[in-house]
Amino acid sequence: MGGEAFRAFVADTRDGLEASGVSTLTAAELPQGEITIRVEYSGVNYKDALAVRRDGGVAAIPRLVPGIDLAGTVVDSTDSGIAAGQSVIVHGYDLGVGRHGGFAELARVPAAYVVPMPAGLDARSAMVLGTAGFTAAMSVVQLEERGLSAADGPVLVLGATGGVGAIAVNMLADRGYEVLASTGKDARDWLLGLGASEVLPRLGTGDSPAGPLEGEEWAAVVDPVGGRALASALSSLRWGGAVAQSGMVGGIGLKTTVLPFIIRGAAILGINSVDVPIDRRREIWARMGDDLKPSCLEGIIDREIGLDGLEAAMTTLLEGGARGRFLLSLGA
Ligand SMILES: NC(=O)c1ccc[n+]([C@@H]2O[C@H](COP(=O)([O-])OP(=O)(O)OC[C@H]3O[C@@H](n4cnc5c(N)ncnc54)[C@H](OP(=O)(O)O)[C@@H]3O)[C@@H](O)[C@H]2O)c1
Repeated sequence: MGGEAFRAFVADTRDGLEASGVSTLTAAELPQGEITIRVEYSGVNYKDALAVRRDGGVAAIPRLVPGIDLAGTVVDSTDSGIAAGQSVIVHGYDLGVGRHGGFAELARVPAAYVVPMPAGLDARSAMVLGTAGFTAAMSVVQLEERGLSAADGPVLVLGATGGVGAIAVNMLADRGYEVLASTGKDARDWLLGLGASEVLPRLGTGDSPAGPLEGEEWAAVVDPVGGRALASALSSLRWGGAVAQSGMVGGIGLKTTVLPFIIRGAAILGINSVDVPIDRRREIWARMGDDLKPSCLEGIIDREIGLDGLEAAMTTLLEGGARGRFLLSLGA
């Protein structure tokens, strides 16, 4: 195993280099861990596109195989709970950030990172979902644990054609919610096909910002965008509503007032898919193969690529141009 050669996309963000591309590595170059996995699929996430850039603020080691999620088959295990031949998912923690990740044919991780493949999913469908799907699921779970139900009124999804957004639209619609999908793209029919009831333009992009309190429109918000879109969404939250906030493609700043909180009892729930304890992670994945499994999984794929297609895919992601998920196939 130590000398086995495999293909990987390597990002070198050392000063003066900033070069990335497909290389051949050997298993001896993989990090420590009890579990070695033959990677079958990975997903391409916004964070991966940042990980290959020196100014991206994501890569924690200078020579990195990015890929914050992966699914595949265990080929070697020194852990009694996980056997060779088992189908598994890994994402979060330092995968693809501080240790080599899923953009490679082989990966090695600690056993404590491993999610056994849930019933209802396989490696391919798990990575159509990937980190984006897990984040959408966490958003729905945290909103529902706070008491949200379909009877409370519409749920607004920001960045609706992105990975997190598109999966949230489909997941919520499947669960009987009225979904308002906010997008900057001409993707009305596609979003209606995923189950959106109505398609709105991007929030917070007009010349005049929304007032601190506007009419009460939505019972909850799934927000992978942040910035002005979040401020605008807060001002139209119904009494007692909440925002599940996960992302920052629209900026990290938030300019709002206290009024949505003290007049409408609004709440912002922080969504962190990276550090979720493994038992909770396994529990949510089990539901993603069951009652949270989106009905339009194949329709959520924007494009399926190999290692050679990664550069172009990541550029599209940084430009906000994705429509759904980019699936990386490392097929045999
Ligand atoms: N907290 C966590 O654990 C966690 C986990 C996963 C992802 N994230 C974060 O969530 C965000 C989205 O991730 P993703 O994988 O869904 O990315 P993505 O596939 O690139 O989708 C982002 C979407 O946001 C919209 N958008 C892009 N630029 C925008 C702008 N300037 N203003 C408003 N909307 C804009 C676009 O959708 P429309 O064209 O439809 O508007 C775009 O497709 C990223 O910031 C990512 O880092 C966080």
